[in-house]
Amino acid sequence: MTAQVTASITTGYQLENGFELNSMANIALMAASRFWFFVAVVGQLLFVYYIVSFYGNSALHGDFVVWNKVLPKGYIPGDTMGNLAVVIHIFLAVVVTIGGPLQLLPELRTRMPFFHRLNGRIYIFTAFMISITGLQMVWGRGIEGDNESFFQGIGQHLGITLNALLIMVFAVITVSYAAKRQIAHHQRWALRLFMVVSGVWFFRIGLMLWIFINDGPAGFDPQTVEGPAIVVLNFAQYLLPLIVLELYLWCKAKANAVCRLMMASGLLLMTAAMGTGITLAFVGLWLPHV
Ligand code: HEM
Repeated sequence: MTAQVTASITTGYQLENGFELNSMANIALMAASRFWFFVAVVGQLLFVYYIVSFYGNSALHGDFVVWNKVLPKGYIPGDTMGNLAVVIHIFLAVVVTIGGPLQLLPELRTRMPFFHRLNGRIYIFTAFMISITGLQMVWGRGIEGDNESFFQGIGQHLGITLNALLIMVFAVITVSYAAKRQIAHHQRWALRLFMVVSGVWFFRIGLMLWIFINDGPAGFDPQTVEGPAIVVLNFAQYLLPLIVLELYLWCKAKANAVCRLMMASGLLLMTAAMGTGITLAFVGLWLPHV
């Protein structure tokens, strides 16, 4: 009898403890992911602030030549198609960077489904157009030894091209799951799409963090922004966020408190690194031009 009572008390205690640990891990993972998202959105809004202040302001005054200060060969007199692609690309950069986070806000999704559907259509269309204009910019102006080219070397060309292809493929998959009303799949692909669309933003954050960690440019030539570190970063800008996202989704689906707690801690560390990169990019890359 006593043994039975002891066993049931012990089991109850373990269950209760397990339950507490589980709910604590759930709360920790949710809080860490929301905090990551909040910091990322702040960083992306700072990017938008820079784009509007620098590119938008000069475009309003009809002064496109000034773009070449930041974007060498961004404006080439006489190259109407090439210049048009750059102008559309920069304009859409603002739309896609604001539209993405709005799509992921659960409050907006549930309270304003009409807005979610409208913004979703604009977001998908913009994701396609920014990829197509980006591809025109990358390949339309040569590869190497060509002084009109934006990027040098086949490595950088392939890295950013794969990014553009992933954006378009993920956009189609996200929409197709929405059309089939398979919401869980739709939401997972929407997150993957957000990560690849944010690739070029991650590149800037990652580059500044890399320079900071190495106490100066390492693995690339700061004059031409060319070298192995830049090629690796061109792939890592979307592959690394995708890997982290898959780990997060895996831990979230698994009923394992330890996994979730570890993921929450990892996310906090990554948020700290991302916050540092955002601050460095804002101060070093963007603020001097606004
Ligand atoms: C999807 C989100 C994207 C956003 C928000 C975005 C935004 C921008 C911005 C703001 C610039 C001006 C450079 C600066 O001032 O920092 C730029 C340049 C450029 N973008 Fe994009 N872009 C995106 C995707 C792409 C893709 C998918 C490609 C290639 C296929 C691409 C190719 C380029 C190229 C070649 C340049 C000029 C060189 C450079 O500064 O990197 N972009 N982009």
